[in-house]
Amino acid sequence: MCGIVGYTGGRDAYPIVIKGLKRLEYRGYDSTGVALAGPSLRVYKKKGKVASLEESIVRKELGGSTGIGHTRWATHGEPSDRNAHPHLSASGQLAMIHNGIIENYSQLKQELLSKGYQFKSDTDTEVLLNFIEEIKHNNACSLEEAIRIALKRVTGAYVILLIDQDMPDTIIAARKGSPLVIGVGQGEHFLGSDASPMLEYTKEVVYVNDYELAIVKPQELVLKNLGNERLTPYVQKLDIELAAIEKGGYEHFMLKEIFEQPKTIFDCLRGRLHAEDGTITLSGIEQHSEALQKANRIVMIACGTSWHAGLTAEYIFEECCRLNVEVEYASEFRYRNPVIHPGDIVLAISQSGETADTLVAIENAKSKGAIILGVVNVVGSSIARMSHAGAYTHAGPEIGVASTKAFTAQLAVLTMIAFKIAQLRNSISPERLSLLLHELESIPAKVEKILSNIEPIQQIAKQYAQARDFLYLGRGYNFPIALEGALKLKEISYIHAEGYPAAEMKHGPIALVDDQLPVVVVATKDSYHEKVLSNMQEIRARKGRVIGIVTEEDQAAIELCEAYLAVPAADEMLAPLLNVIPLQLLAYYIGIEKGCDVDKPRNLAKSVTVE
Ligand code: G6P
Repeated sequence: MCGIVGYTGGRDAYPIVIKGLKRLEYRGYDSTGVALAGPSLRVYKKKGKVASLEESIVRKELGGSTGIGHTRWATHGEPSDRNAHPHLSASGQLAMIHNGIIENYSQLKQELLSKGYQFKSDTDTEVLLNFIEEIKHNNACSLEEAIRIALKRVTGAYVILLIDQDMPDTIIAARKGSPLVIGVGQGEHFLGSDASPMLEYTKEVVYVNDYELAIVKPQELVLKNLGNERLTPYVQKLDIELAAIEKGGYEHFMLKEIFEQPKTIFDCLRGRLHAEDGTITLSGIEQHSEALQKANRIVMIACGTSWHAGLTAEYIFEECCRLNVEVEYASEFRYRNPVIHPGDIVLAISQSGETADTLVAIENAKSKGAIILGVVNVVGSSIARMSHAGAYTHAGPEIGVASTKAFTAQLAVLTMIAFKIAQLRNSISPERLSLLLHELESIPAKVEKILSNIEPIQQIAKQYAQARDFLYLGRGYNFPIALEGALKLKEISYIHAEGYPAAEMKHGPIALVDDQLPVVVVATKDSYHEKVLSNMQEIRARKGRVIGIVTEEDQAAIELCEAYLAVPAADEMLAPLLNVIPLQLLAYYIGIEKGCDVDKPRNLAKSVTVE
């Protein structure tokens, strides 16, 4: 979490840095700050979002063609002006921003305190900065050398950007575990946590790797490892258009991204799914055909919404591939001693490709000899680069903090991977596969149909927005969809919501049911339909308020609902791709009813680069 931006070149740095920070606010928005170099080193920072900083510094001196900026998701120290980045070193000579956590900061702080250092903030960042300055003084060395020495003592994750008052056209950057992209322009360079701050200026970027140091000047980019050896920057061409990261007329990114889903699912299937000849092309997966044919099990690791995509896929994999599947929270997996054998298949699922827990879990599995297949959205991200192979989800940049289009794209890719493996293992009949491939092809149009009738969703949102709690129920393929629906509501509207397997309701949650409790039941037609209808009866018998997600014209289900949202009929294996859409919209419109900042819900961040 935390977003970092930097610029050095011939233009004014401030507007570029501020604009870049706005694009990176999805990574955290507890406080914002900038440092500008020129005749003097100036730092401006403020608690709150980028807009608060802008308002507070209208009359300040904002010139200078080198600058760094930070948008924070607080870890060490409450959100406040004084804990905001950039931090200044004790001498006032250096300014630094940081994304990540310095785990041994308290040990370093003790060392510095014993030498008489005083701290203005509660952050680990200020400790690292002064540690660097102390080394620079003691060793009478360059800043670059001091950073190298300091980083060898540091444990944890970081991207740091530093400016030295004596080198006003230089930014020094280093990374381990948190993302850093450098944009290469004509006589100028841009730095960012992702490529979005630099999109309108350049498409040429360098992804900095762990344990690398970049010395960035307008005309020069020097990349080194921590051993001071020069590396050749690998310049790649970005394939993202500016429009992809703008709202394009929608009130919020979340709404835009929900509405993009017919296209994102289509893009994800394009060139891979060939329903007519009954084949799927997934070149990354095909590289490991032999291992997939022989595999006894697949382990999926992910966090948050990506974990829900994995959980939904588990049902599909088991059904089609007759494989044992385990879906693990990366944060749990990393601290266990999981049983992984050489050649085991691990599927890592991540929108950002930067989630710290998922990254470490992958390292863990890799060290035990697993084959890592990544299902990742952000091209060139750490997880994409760490995986042996994989399949991108091609959903385009997702800016709204609550994941929507990335989820359906993950599910579409995972479904194709399952079908591919099933074909390799001969565990599905060609007739059934052909039917499923045709059905999958028809999903974008069905999503489009759901999105063409949002009025009932808006009405239901109005009707139920004041509820204190929500229960979400689903069974089989739709159980993870109930979890995802509840997660969306919690994230966006701050209403407590719980997802549960429908049949488990009677073992606990039924005690919560009264005439106040809305119970969202995902009740589309599938093998468990009759059972789920019985659960709806049970809720009604206790005066619970059933909101059904039902198949169009399913009168039996509709009659059991106080309110309902209809979706087109689909094979039960693919229905989750449809059923989640009204749940995303319901959360969105309830959030709007409640006046919440749906794109930037409190306390959350999109890319969780701390554990
Ligand atoms: C955060 C985001 C979620 C996301 C999760 C995992 O919590 O707010 O939307 O699902 O991280 O992120 P990843 O990028 O690995 O999918």
